[in-house]
Amino acid sequence: MSLVPGEKVFVTGATGVVGRAVCDQLVARGVGVVALSRQPRPDRPGLSFVQGEVSEPGSWQEALGGMSGVVHLAGEPIAAARWNTGVKRKIRASRIEGTRHIVDGMMRLASPPRVLVCASAAGFYGPRGEELLDETSPPGTDFLARLCVDWEAEAQRAQGPNTRVVSLRSGMILSKEGGALPRMLPVFRSGFGGPMGPADRFTPWIHQDDAAGLAVAALEAEGPGWRGPVNAVAPELLRMGPWARILGGVVRRPALIPVPEWTLRLILGEAAIAVIPGQRIVPRAAEQGAYRYAHPTLKGALQALLQRGPS
Ligand SMILES: NC(=O)c1ccc[n+]([C@@H]2O[C@H](COP(=O)([O-])OP(=O)(O)OC[C@H]3O[C@@H](n4cnc5c(N)ncnc54)[C@H](OP(=O)(O)O)[C@@H]3O)[C@@H](O)[C@H]2O)c1
Repeated sequence: MSLVPGEKVFVTGATGVVGRAVCDQLVARGVGVVALSRQPRPDRPGLSFVQGEVSEPGSWQEALGGMSGVVHLAGEPIAAARWNTGVKRKIRASRIEGTRHIVDGMMRLASPPRVLVCASAAGFYGPRGEELLDETSPPGTDFLARLCVDWEAEAQRAQGPNTRVVSLRSGMILSKEGGALPRMLPVFRSGFGGPMGPADRFTPWIHQDDAAGLAVAALEAEGPGWRGPVNAVAPELLRMGPWARILGGVVRRPALIPVPEWTLRLILGEAAIAVIPGQRIVPRAAEQGAYRYAHPTLKGALQALLQRGPS
């Protein structure tokens, strides 16, 4: 069911890469946004903040009342640091307990929001080589895969006669404002870029506008594809070698210097798996749901991002 102007959506992670784009898309359509943040920004027309920490229950849960939908994106950054026990605990708590508190808050309402769109990640599948993966493929077994399985299970608790749940299994989200791309750009622009890890490994990706566009489509769409897991990846399947060459081409530099897998493992340890995913994923549900990508090719996506002014 389409959202109409005046309806409201609760968004967590609204200050992040995808959350900002989701808020902009909703506000542009006249939909009100109530955003949860640990450090609220000033309100602006159509967007008001509620202060709160999603991994702790609190009075912020009352703000879920009267919402038509929820987009839950908040979570401790995954590939920003080596995964020691403390980092792993924060990554899990912010997602598993965070989602639990969102769902508990929704389930307490006499009239709960009619849809919960919750982040997940392509890491659900674990590294899978040449296997073609869609939303029906089984999960992997590493830390990230188990995190996604538990995260999606928490979100699914909200599924009911009046509430639909969608989990967005995102590939690497391309943005100039956060995530992997801003860390790659200086290296590629200086001519020292190249494939990260094995050049033949598939690297699922998506432009931030499509990551947000899929979240908004999932809020509104009612078709069979828009329930349960949705692969939030671009339709262009690329291995890391061509991926790096395309980025080098867009910044007009050669991309010939590979970063060996052992170097990534030395720097990031187990978290290297988030950088060199190795998943050949098709966005089956988005295709069945007739989602129209704004940026279906990597070259077009990068050109659109890098033409938006200096990073
Ligand atoms: N970016 C990617 O490439 C990618 C790929 C696959 C999946 N995802 C998933 O998609 C979701 C959105 O990604 P994103 O890139 O937009 O994330 P992001 O830019 O890192 O923003 C996430 C937001 O979550 C909140 N947050 C951060 N640490 C938190 C913590 N420990 N506890 C509670 N809240 C915390 C922050 O909001 P406040 O500070 O305002 O509270 C932050 O703005 C995330 O769950 C992420 O795991 C992202």
